[in-house]
Amino acid sequence: MNRPRVLSGIQPTADSFHLGNYLGAVRQWVALQEEHDAFYCVVDLHAITVPHDPDTLRRRSRIAAAQLIGAGLEPERCTLFLQSHVPEHAELAWVLSCLTGFGEASRMTQFKDKSAKGGSEQASVGLFTYPILQAADILLYEADQVPVGEDQRQHLELTRDLAQRFNHRFGGTFVLPAPYILPSVARIADLQDPAIKMSKSASSPQGIVDVLDDPAQIRRKIARAVTDAGRDVRADEENKPGITNLLRIYSALTGEPIAAIEARYGSTGYGQFKKDLAEAAVATFTPIRERTEAILADTESLDKTLADGAARAGRVARETMATVREKIGFVPRLDRP
Ligand code: AMP
Ligand code: TRP
Repeated sequence: MNRPRVLSGIQPTADSFHLGNYLGAVRQWVALQEEHDAFYCVVDLHAITVPHDPDTLRRRSRIAAAQLIGAGLEPERCTLFLQSHVPEHAELAWVLSCLTGFGEASRMTQFKDKSAKGGSEQASVGLFTYPILQAADILLYEADQVPVGEDQRQHLELTRDLAQRFNHRFGGTFVLPAPYILPSVARIADLQDPAIKMSKSASSPQGIVDVLDDPAQIRRKIARAVTDAGRDVRADEENKPGITNLLRIYSALTGEPIAAIEARYGSTGYGQFKKDLAEAAVATFTPIRERTEAILADTESLDKTLADGAARAGRVARETMATVREKIGFVPRLDRP
């Protein structure tokens, strides 16, 4: 019996994932590996769409993979790999870019946001075509579901459009993927500014809790998180966005419903609530940090795990690309199956 396919990717663009990445995406990746045929990649090709330093990229790619294993991915159970180890990602991205309208790509809001930051004249063409590479990541593996945060919804719509367009022009080839987005954690907000999402590029260091932060840093950042006027711990998106965000995080970390948390802390004030929230975050992240450090102490064995993952991913990717080449009208190369 075939298990449904899942694929997702994460960029190796920081020395640690943050709480938003963890709750919005990584935790779902771990849960989905149980019942699904799951492919997870560290998207190093995406990471070079903005200026980068080669040694830093290499280090962060290994940190990202180690953290995913530290967070609970089991490389025997899912396929964990680095995107650059499977050249078919770039190859399919080229084919899909020839099916993407210039106007269509220009409407991607993440490109508009990211390119506005450095001045749009400076943005690379790679940043512009980033969502097409993402579509290739997904379609190569015929993924049914793609676990991500809310900010990726538009890229998944483009992916579905491209799959449909290809199928329509060249005959049924691609599976249409569905986003897998959990509303309760789809957009974790910055601790210093609840109006923006927690993000490595936009947030101040105080606005982000990193998975690899030590307990003292986690406690300090949560203690200083902005809260709202009043002292009652109550979810109210409109008037209490800071506390509402913290309630959401608390509930996601402990599994306790928001109503039960409100009932317990209702009028005790913010202090005890924040203390207990910090301890919940420390309890979740400490074992992940310790496992990640242990994995990074043996990069040889990590690299071997990644090579095994790339071998498995490559088998699927080559099969899909063979179909794509045939459908699109390329002459087969005689010395290759
Ligand atoms: P990135 O770091 O941009 O590669 O994002 C990795 C994953 O984390 C993606 O699935 C994002 O949608 C998700 N993500 C990033 N920031 C947040 C956030 N603040 N809240 C929820 N999910 C997030
Ligand atoms: N663009 C995604 C992000 O910033 C990362 C990503 C790349 C991805 N390829 C993917 C996510 C494929 C899901 C599926 O978070």
